[in-house]
Amino acid sequence: MRANPGGMIAPAEVVGRDRLIAELWRVLEQRSLVLDAERRIGKTCMIRKMTAEPPPGVVAVYRDLEGMRTPQEFAESVVRDGLNHLGRIGRTAWKLKRWAGKLGGAELKGKFKLPEDLGPHWKALLEEFCSALCEGREERVLFFWDEVPLMLQNFMRRDGGAEAMELLDLLRSLRQTTPNLRMVFTGSIGIANLIDRLHETGHPGDPTNDMAQVDVPPLAHVHAVRLAHALFLGEGLLPEGSPPDAACELLAAETDGVPYYIHHLVDRLAIEKERPTTARIRALIERALRDPADPWHLAHFRERLLPSYGPARGPLARRVLDLLAFEDDLCGFARLANLLAGTGAPVPADDLRPMLRALTRDHYLIREEGWRFRFPLVQRWWRRRLEGLESPRPAATREDGA
Ligand SMILES: Nc1ncnc2c1ncn2[C@@H]1O[C@H](COP(=O)(O)OP(=O)(O)O)[C@@H](O)[C@H]1O
Ligand SMILES: [Mg+2]
Repeated sequence: MRANPGGMIAPAEVVGRDRLIAELWRVLEQRSLVLDAERRIGKTCMIRKMTAEPPPGVVAVYRDLEGMRTPQEFAESVVRDGLNHLGRIGRTAWKLKRWAGKLGGAELKGKFKLPEDLGPHWKALLEEFCSALCEGREERVLFFWDEVPLMLQNFMRRDGGAEAMELLDLLRSLRQTTPNLRMVFTGSIGIANLIDRLHETGHPGDPTNDMAQVDVPPLAHVHAVRLAHALFLGEGLLPEGSPPDAACELLAAETDGVPYYIHHLVDRLAIEKERPTTARIRALIERALRDPADPWHLAHFRERLLPSYGPARGPLARRVLDLLAFEDDLCGFARLANLLAGTGAPVPADDLRPMLRALTRDHYLIREEGWRFRFPLVQRWWRRRLEGLESPRPAATREDGA
């Protein structure tokens, strides 16, 4: 197996997800799913593998929605993706044709062609098409829709959220009226967080409350070690037949089991044709964290706060994380409130509590007896980043010797 950070990997190269995939297929027998996880944890690799290897009785379609700007574009993409599977069933094709006749400009002569401007018909199109696709069919039809929140964020930029909520509501009603239709939404910015923002902008509702919510964790340590080992062997950095060693263990641990960083580090060693020693791995991780070019794209964690939390809550999210980055231990609520008061405007408990809940739900933090960063590697990057600024750390944080 070769290092390929951020690239498409073959289903057979997806390491350590078999159990989770089996669990997801089980859930999908009954319900649709929201899969949340930070960017680059490995959601896309996993759902592409699921699309390529569905169990019997499931028709699966994958689509990345990040670039979709309008609900019309989305509806068209659903039709285009689904048509391949509809073609085989004449009866449902006929139904679609009938629908197409109703909507001026749509043609179904061999190749299906939609009118130039779908306008408000996108809802009717989705409804008619989903029933044409699913009715009278024994299989379950499953749409893997990747990066749903980013698409909805695109809609929100244009109209403040009305269309986003309309689409979510419509998809919910389709799930309820079409028993063999399933949807999987993935999101690198939590979908719950996005729905909070829709509420703030005056769009109430809970349009995913019928879906199971599952977090995609990083790889378990044993699987992260296995990935590191397979990549070292594949890149010829370890002699063939050699067992996993301390370098594999260290790489798995220091990257928090995130496969993207494991691929990156092996890639760097392969470019430099270096033997993977623990000292070299430590040094290269430190270099990646300090590199202003940000080869591991860690700045994303900080930069996405303003767009995903919005102008009202984004600055507080950033203040909280900037403070917690310098905490070595769990930080209790009172301590955090004090740190905030010591470094700027005090934050009322009624604002701080929901913010901590949101950041925890959104994979930044873990809550135990207090709060801490979920990923030590991200915390290390955050500190390095702030240490590089003019006022390295907020005045009221304690010295931690880092
Ligand atoms: N299970 C896995 N096994 C091996 N490599 C993986 C795995 N999951 C992810 N990767 C690596 O991490 C990169 C990012 O994964 P990706 O699925 O795109 O993350 P996400 O969709 O969560 O942002 C991939 O290009 C691949 O190099
Ligand atoms: Mg992805």
